Amino acid sequence: MGRFVRRPVGRRLLVRIAERRCVVKVVTVSTQKGGAGKTTSAVHLAVGLNRAGYRVLVVDLDAQAHASKWLLPAIPRDALGAAGVLESGEPPAEEDLLPVPNRPGLSVLPASLALRKSNITLRENPGADRVLSSALAPIGGSFDFCIIDTPPAVELVTYNALAAADYVLVPVTSAFLALDGLGELQKTLELVRSRTNPRLEVLGYLHLAVTKGYSNSTEVREILQKKQGSKLLKCEIRTSSVQMTIAAHRLTAWDKEAGDERGLEDWTAVQAEILGRMGVKAAAKPATAKKQASPKSKAVTTARSVKGTAKVPARKARAT
Ligand SMILES: Nc1ncnc2c1ncn2[C@@H]1O[C@H](COP(=O)(O)OP(=O)(O)O)[C@@H](O)[C@H]1O
Ligand SMILES: [Mg+2]
Repeated sequence: MGRFVRRPVGRRLLVRIAERRCVVKVVTVSTQKGGAGKTTSAVHLAVGLNRAGYRVLVVDLDAQAHASKWLLPAIPRDALGAAGVLESGEPPAEEDLLPVPNRPGLSVLPASLALRKSNITLRENPGADRVLSSALAPIGGSFDFCIIDTPPAVELVTYNALAAADYVLVPVTSAFLALDGLGELQKTLELVRSRTNPRLEVLGYLHLAVTKGYSNSTEVREILQKKQGSKLLKCEIRTSSVQMTIAAHRLTAWDKEAGDERGLEDWTAVQAEILGRMGVKAAAKPATAKKQASPKSKAVTTARSVKGTAKVPARKARAT
């Protein structure tokens, strides 16, 4: 395990982690559609879990490197990152896991343009769709969660991400053609389960960029409810005007500097529901919104109103 980054963590944090030590859980965020909220979800989930005291590794498998650029101030030019791991089949070396500044315990195995070639180089490997799964296996001792962001296509890289996962989280925005490709995704999941990873579970379909009263949002939710039933997360992420700009400042809705109170409230609820679904005890102190929800926002399901989800004690939002 000496190969992996061990970030310095505070004593209190160590005690908290030791108390609820868990085997690493791998969550792949995937859908075949671009602009569906994959990177937004992967980054918010990773940062949210990290803020709750968990050690989190983000594996960025999209050559566009949006998650890497969102979280890291710079990616070394020569860093092969995830592409190097897919090519060699070897576990990532310590220097491959880039620590996210000001977020102790959060690291990124970054994407690089070399990922564009990974689908071709992987084909030469006899166990082509299990390469990532084997390479990441040893991280169990170094991280509590591994969140994998994926490209918007069914290709060998995506199969690797699904083969390595315990769970798949499927974001769906309220945009036009949001539901496009979900049928294909289900076929892909079946294939992965039958060929490489029978334990793969759908963590949930996450409805994002929801505008209450907007017909597209209502229709998308109704169809998701009908087709996915209980797999549709009860909590959802409302449209937020700052979401489109905060990535440029390397902020997330979890950071009070982002000024996204609505996002903070929604992501807090979604994270509690997700932890409940994974059967993970909620972290001691996740962030809560600075202000109370306005009466209008009561329509959105909150962590406390979702039956069966973990209870989340409140604390003030932490600056990062
Ligand atoms: N809650 C939200 N409100 C408004 N826009 C959002 C919200 N969440 C995500 N977006 C926007 O949706 C777009 C696509 O999101 P992204 O995570 O990059 O999708 P993908 O990774 O699937 O391509 C981005 O411009 C992002 O800012
Ligand atoms: Mg993306």
